[in-house]
Amino acid sequence: MTDLRPTTTRVLLIISGGIAAYKSLELIRLLTAHGIAVRCVLTRGGAQFVTPLSLAALSGDTVYEDLFSLTDERTMGHIELSRDADLLLVAPATADILAKMRAGLADDLATTALLATDKPVMAAPAMNVRMWDHPATQENIQALRDRCISIIGPEEGDMACGEYGMGRMTEPGDILAAVLDRLKLAPINGEGTSPGRLAGKKAIVTSGPTHEPLDPVRYITNRSSGRQGHAIAAALAAEGAETILISGPTVLADPLGVTVSKVASARDMMEACTDALPADILVCAAAVADWRAADPASEKIKKNGKPPLFDLVENPDILASLSQAGDSRPALVVGFAAETGAVVEKAQAKRARKGCDWIIANDVSPGIDTFGSMTNTVHMVDGKTVENWPTMTKEQVGEQLAGRIADHFK
Ligand code: C5P
Repeated sequence: MTDLRPTTTRVLLIISGGIAAYKSLELIRLLTAHGIAVRCVLTRGGAQFVTPLSLAALSGDTVYEDLFSLTDERTMGHIELSRDADLLLVAPATADILAKMRAGLADDLATTALLATDKPVMAAPAMNVRMWDHPATQENIQALRDRCISIIGPEEGDMACGEYGMGRMTEPGDILAAVLDRLKLAPINGEGTSPGRLAGKKAIVTSGPTHEPLDPVRYITNRSSGRQGHAIAAALAAEGAETILISGPTVLADPLGVTVSKVASARDMMEACTDALPADILVCAAAVADWRAADPASEKIKKNGKPPLFDLVENPDILASLSQAGDSRPALVVGFAAETGAVVEKAQAKRARKGCDWIIANDVSPGIDTFGSMTNTVHMVDGKTVENWPTMTKEQVGEQLAGRIADHFK
């Protein structure tokens, strides 16, 4: 069986029931040839077209089929299956599984893993042309795209059913290329992956909220999910930077290729950042709590008829301190500004006040759900210019920012 080392990129390949399932055998071969560990989930329909034995032989791993299998659950539970992968790939994706994904149904192992994941999901549809053209399928595809699920293909051509049209699954080589692109891995041509434009640079990224205790069970926090900071760390690592992510409490998985330091309070975050210096790049994307209780209770506070009063004191400002840290200041410091109204003007003032180089500003006015959202609409503010970026996924904002950072160091 394959040794799934933590440094190996892992793809969970979900094979649903279509004649194109035979192409998944070639896909596994191509993925594994690129150093990607593949673990397969086979739906009941998929098992009509390929056998678990062929998949196990090619992937070198157990093939998972049954949501309620005692043996499977003992080796790898359905939640771990999706958690353990860096990417979920549904190939072939039938009209049925696409509809279930859109609706959030979880009535078998494949759909449960898809619903339980917070990893990137890609799907390569394969179906009859009329099923593909049906408004139901087209609406499902659009809804999945809106959720940042990458849809690969399908292609136009002759079909197994004898008809001609859109619906043929994309060839395994092109699916491989799309997967490598999404995982930010270079194709292997005998030389391994490319070093990336930020190779040799070290980056620190802060992410997530902080927790400021009031007593052993209660704390002050905010609505930051950490998605943006984590995406930036992943993108910097993909550009080749040695990346340290200093994260407040989040439910997110650790990004690929990043060293993660988990902290709770602003003061812990400050200490972890200082310990991680020196660095070339600092991106402060964390929503650090501005205040903490001056004197948190050491025992749980009991109700006694009058609400407790807390004296609040200001937390250290990590961005401002490290922007003004003299010799240990990273060469490029990027801050964030979540503002309500006059966003750009406030971001420009903040940049000058804190002493950072760039500010990524966004509007968090009521009705604009930036914190909980998968997308972000930001403005990049430096000393001279303001760029308004279109609405993008947080991953895309991370990639764009990492690209700009790489350009800066060129
Ligand atoms: O002052 P404000 O909280 O609006 O500043 C936001 C920027 O400053 C973000 O980049 C955030 O990560 C950073 N910050 C910090 N430490 C704090 C407060 C904010 O690093 N205590």
